[in-house]
Amino acid sequence: MSPIAPPRGTRDLLPAEAPAWRWFLETHAAVAGRHGYQLIDTPVFEATELFARGVGSGTDIVDKEMYTFVDRGGRSMTLRPEGTAPVLRAVLGAHLEQQRRPVRVYYAMAMFRYDRPQAGRQREFHQVGVEVIGERDPCYDAEVIEVAWRFMAELRIDGVELQLNSLGDSDDRLRYRAALVAYYTPLRESLCEDCQRRLDVNPLRLLDCKKDAKYNENAPLIGDHLSEASREYFDSVARHLDDAGIPYTRNQRLVRGLDYYAHTAFEFWHRSLQGAQNALGGGGRYDGLADELGFAATPGVGYALGIERLLTVAADQGVAPAPQPPAQLVICTTGGASAAEGRRLARELRNRTSVVADLTDRRLEKKLRDADRLGALLALLVGLDEGLVLRNLRTGVQQVVSADTVLDAVSAELLQAAQGPTA
Ligand code: HAM
Repeated sequence: MSPIAPPRGTRDLLPAEAPAWRWFLETHAAVAGRHGYQLIDTPVFEATELFARGVGSGTDIVDKEMYTFVDRGGRSMTLRPEGTAPVLRAVLGAHLEQQRRPVRVYYAMAMFRYDRPQAGRQREFHQVGVEVIGERDPCYDAEVIEVAWRFMAELRIDGVELQLNSLGDSDDRLRYRAALVAYYTPLRESLCEDCQRRLDVNPLRLLDCKKDAKYNENAPLIGDHLSEASREYFDSVARHLDDAGIPYTRNQRLVRGLDYYAHTAFEFWHRSLQGAQNALGGGGRYDGLADELGFAATPGVGYALGIERLLTVAADQGVAPAPQPPAQLVICTTGGASAAEGRRLARELRNRTSVVADLTDRRLEKKLRDADRLGALLALLVGLDEGLVLRNLRTGVQQVVSADTVLDAVSAELLQAAQGPTA
């Protein structure tokens, strides 16, 4: 029997990567928290309709990438491919927007998209994100961008480029849609199969196509179809970004892969990521989404960043924290009554640091070798004739300590190690 393999397109988080993962989540929670955002979480699966209506049929996510199944009650369910529709459903379902406006929430959640796995693209991946729900003002569009920008700055990630566009309101998009149909219809026969379908269902998606990129170069631009009010909205977001000192590139071909956007749409790109997978994250305003989901019309804006993609860049740039040993101190007992004493000392020393106790019957040399392999800084040898012996595994220096002084001695060693080697 061959061992069971993980599902294609998934990754395990192994202990060596855990410090980087925790650093990432804790930094995001801290930055979002400092801007007044509170944690929210939603179920891993939802009624399929939430995404079919929210993200939109005609998008790749809904048409090709959803993990959809019929549950034992005969209901169609889908593993969450993105967080905005579920978070909006949760906030409006709990009437949070009636208690305060806007509602500011952040999340860190697993997402599922059935796509061909490759570098930067998995079937299960993770996002952190924020949503501001209940107000429509350009200052909130700029605020969410600023949260993401500051977060990436605090991770010390260099070289992030903000791509910014306006998709206008629904009238603007109707006009733009007509212009796109007029432009692409004579080209229909030359377009790829997907784009021929997109031309009928969702012409904006044509701009997303990598295969037909050569036709997209001369396609009409959304900027030429924006109303005065939409243009003003965009300019105001841009002014707020200027005030915040956040540089951006206006990218009129940025349409995003989800249908719920109106007005602001943006992405964070990084040159080190390859081709189609160069987006670290993206977001925008989705004022029509609540209505689509059957709630009273409620505006919203937010972003999501791909954790795995950002961690790849962080690792390349050497800013992610290194793997940590599971414990700083290993208690090595030497048989007889020393096991009981070792357990008692472990309990006490855990008030100060991370401790594992090796209470087995193995030889002391072997225990010390294992403690060293674990990456521990200290070993406390219990049950020797001379008493308790504290050994620094880096320097090999050891000292005899007593039950009364062991805590201080351990503290002094930890402090010295934290200050680095002295000359
Ligand atoms: P999205 O652009 O679909 O937006 O996804 C955001 C980010 O998730 C991407 O830029 C990428 O870093 C990461 N990502 C997406 N698909 C994959 C994948 N297959 N493998 C690895 N990483 C991936 C949204 O999901 C919107 N909900 C963002 C938003 C929030 N808009 C408003 N609020």
